[in-house]
Amino acid sequence: MKITIIGTGYVGLPTGAGLASLGHDVTCVDCVKDTIETLKAGKVTLYEKGLEELLTSGMTSGHLHFTCSIEKEVVRGAQVIIIAVGTPENLRTGEADLSYLFAAVEQVAKKLEGPAVVAIKSTVPVGTGDEVERFIRKTNPRVQAEIISLPEFLREGYAVHDFFHPKRIVVGTQSEKVRSLIREMYAPLSPAPKMLFVSRRSSELIKYASNAFLAMKIHYINEMADLCEAAGANIHEVSRGMGADTRIGSAFLQPGPGYGGSCFPKDTKALLHMARKHGINLSLVRSTILGNEERRKLMAIKILKSVEDIQRPRIAIWGLAFKEGTDDCRESPAIGIIQYIITHSAATVVAYDPKAMQNAHKLLGDSIKYASNKEAAAQGADMLVILTGWDDFISPDLKKLKMIMNTSRIMDLRFTMSLTGSSF
Ligand SMILES: NC(=O)c1ccc[n+]([C@@H]2O[C@H](COP(=O)([O-])OP(=O)(O)OC[C@H]3O[C@@H](n4cnc5c(N)ncnc54)[C@H](O)[C@@H]3O)[C@@H](O)[C@H]2O)c1
Repeated sequence: MKITIIGTGYVGLPTGAGLASLGHDVTCVDCVKDTIETLKAGKVTLYEKGLEELLTSGMTSGHLHFTCSIEKEVVRGAQVIIIAVGTPENLRTGEADLSYLFAAVEQVAKKLEGPAVVAIKSTVPVGTGDEVERFIRKTNPRVQAEIISLPEFLREGYAVHDFFHPKRIVVGTQSEKVRSLIREMYAPLSPAPKMLFVSRRSSELIKYASNAFLAMKIHYINEMADLCEAAGANIHEVSRGMGADTRIGSAFLQPGPGYGGSCFPKDTKALLHMARKHGINLSLVRSTILGNEERRKLMAIKILKSVEDIQRPRIAIWGLAFKEGTDDCRESPAIGIIQYIITHSAATVVAYDPKAMQNAHKLLGDSIKYASNKEAAAQGADMLVILTGWDDFISPDLKKLKMIMNTSRIMDLRFTMSLTGSSF
């Protein structure tokens, strides 16, 4: 099957490389020239386990191609055109910014000749498919395009794994012909994925409703963690006890510094905005957003309180990415916490992350020091804070840390070591 993917970010690239490995003829398009040049040279532009290998095999087999612009030959003959461009938060209103999506759609509409399925993989508000349909009809009345919703549920850090083992594939279209085509596109996956065919609007909302639910779960367990601390209970025991109930489930019940990343923060806000437009009050989502934002500040204050006896403390940070397995620092709690620390104290921050140093530098610049490894970050530190749950941070050599640090204070906000807010 000939497939075109627009946008080669955290979603588009693993999806494109994955589909190519299933034997499809895939062309990935991105408007950033450097990105395409790097990919054409066989190098990845973002970190995901197994992605580079997948990219190499796709290119070697001749199934995976990259290009910079949506030219006629890119869309000509493509049976499915997948749009995976960003839909970031509009910082003024909180709604999803659809400008990248419509820019891509416009280019497709202008170049498309034959019939094709345009699958919106980007996370978009309910009704966007209808808008895109109207827009394409207006831009190019001759074109026959079937607009479907094909939301993405992959987890950053596990993107390649999740492509091959999706929990479900949601397809929003009423057309039986299109359903068959999408079934065919994923047919080589083994075991066969669970496919859910729903209306386009339901599909668009499933994505937001799922993300907001997971965000709420995280916020809930964080609030429970605060209560445990105040009431003398152990959050891990509470979480274990709750998660044993299959109606609740143990996933997303680990306390931490709050959720982050490129999805939950923006998607919860976009959902709230969407609901407001429809006259619906999503009080749970609203308090989740507020509580999660507050949590970063509370964690930063907690860190500073632990070193208040030291005049100009040196704070070592392990972990900058919003979670382990990725180099993505967008809305990372680590970044927010560090920003609070450096603006509200005289502390020096020395940070290390196995993959996210470059992306963190784009956000923090030279306001902190960057260490070349975890020990170098901890060297001479008055406190060590773990903010991302990388495997490499599990079970550190405590004897060594004691020797190289100034004090023996560790705050493990990811509970990688089961050493919570204690010294050793
Ligand atoms: N990152 C995730 O884990 C994840 C998971 C599920 C869904 N999503 C959703 O998928 C969408 C993409 O997310 P992402 O994290 O991959 O974004 P991203 O920012 O990593 O990548 C988007 C890419 O699209 C490119 N682009 C933008 N406009 C373009 C255009 N007109 N033509 C060609 N390329 C263009 C950008 O250069 C960029 O490389 C978003 O709507 C997001 O909410 C993301």
